[in-house]
Amino acid sequence: MNDSNRNKTFSQFLLRKSIDPGLGGVVNDILSACIDIANTLSKSPIEGLTGSSDKSNSSGETQKTLDLLCNQILRDQLRHNQSVKHFASEEQNNAINVNESGAFSVAFDPLDGSTNIDINGSVGTIFSILPALSSSSPEESFLQPGSNQLCAGYVIYGPATQLVITFGKGTYIFTLDVEKEVFVLTEEGVRVPYETSEFSINMANARSWNKEFGNYIDHLLDGKCGPRQKNYNMRWSGAMVADIHRVVSRGGIFLYPSDKRKGMQSGKLRLIYEANPIALILYNCGASAFNESNSILSVTPSRLHQRTPVIAGSTKEVYTCLNYIQDES
Ligand code: AHG
Ligand code: MN
Ligand code: MN
Ligand code: MN
Repeated sequence: MNDSNRNKTFSQFLLRKSIDPGLGGVVNDILSACIDIANTLSKSPIEGLTGSSDKSNSSGETQKTLDLLCNQILRDQLRHNQSVKHFASEEQNNAINVNESGAFSVAFDPLDGSTNIDINGSVGTIFSILPALSSSSPEESFLQPGSNQLCAGYVIYGPATQLVITFGKGTYIFTLDVEKEVFVLTEEGVRVPYETSEFSINMANARSWNKEFGNYIDHLLDGKCGPRQKNYNMRWSGAMVADIHRVVSRGGIFLYPSDKRKGMQSGKLRLIYEANPIALILYNCGASAFNESNSILSVTPSRLHQRTPVIAGSTKEVYTCLNYIQDES
């Protein structure tokens, strides 16, 4: 990384990259909300904010208290931003109008991996910024292919709070300076290795996968003792942002296949506010992101909370996996 850029603030980065001020302003507001979320999460056991609410979301999940609180923090922060026209969230059934004059439609997973809250595991906030479609209903404005995204990012709340972001020209990592409450640049031009020996999947679902992922997993495991002698390792954190951040940091393949369980025919992860932003970030790192047949960014959603299978990460491994499941179908 160019040392003269190291520790430059996010605002200095926006100026240096001549990012549209309206778009940059939306991201700055998102980051202000994420700093508030990071502080809230760090005190949540003290303030009795862990645990579940008595509500559920459109995906049929019981909403954690913090799912709802993080959603509210983001909504309150963006409510007054004149550049935001529509706001959508995992935790709200419908997309809402914010400001009629806004140019952007913003979708959120306010707290990704929220089941990790009760075990103090890493969680994150994922966001996707699309050009607002004119005179459309709020929901309609989000029914655009992920390739239309103007910006995509996630903030991971781990040992360090980090922002991983792309405006479509490379992927950058910023780290929160907690004292100064600013995100500073710590990685630019991030590249994901073309090959990997690390895979990430929830093997507990193996008996219900729709496609022959089992044959692909056997291929990985045979590598350990087969002629290829390639030792694969496995990691599964329960939070997509944590598993994807490992891929962004050192390569890997992340898999959430479609399966026969109720409501999971198209997988578990949501296209608009989980898979699409992650896919744009990965493509800007030279990595790949597919559903079980096409590039995720090429899919035009028909519903706000539509789910998708995800096969994402080191390109060579993604294509090897696709060949295994295509051959078997
Ligand atoms: P969310 O907490 O936003 O609902 O997302 C949880 C997702 C994703 O973060 C993670 O990869 C996946 O659920 C884990 O699913 P399993 O619990 O089935 O492994
Ligand atoms: Mn959820
Ligand atoms: Mn999520
Ligand atoms: Mn969530």
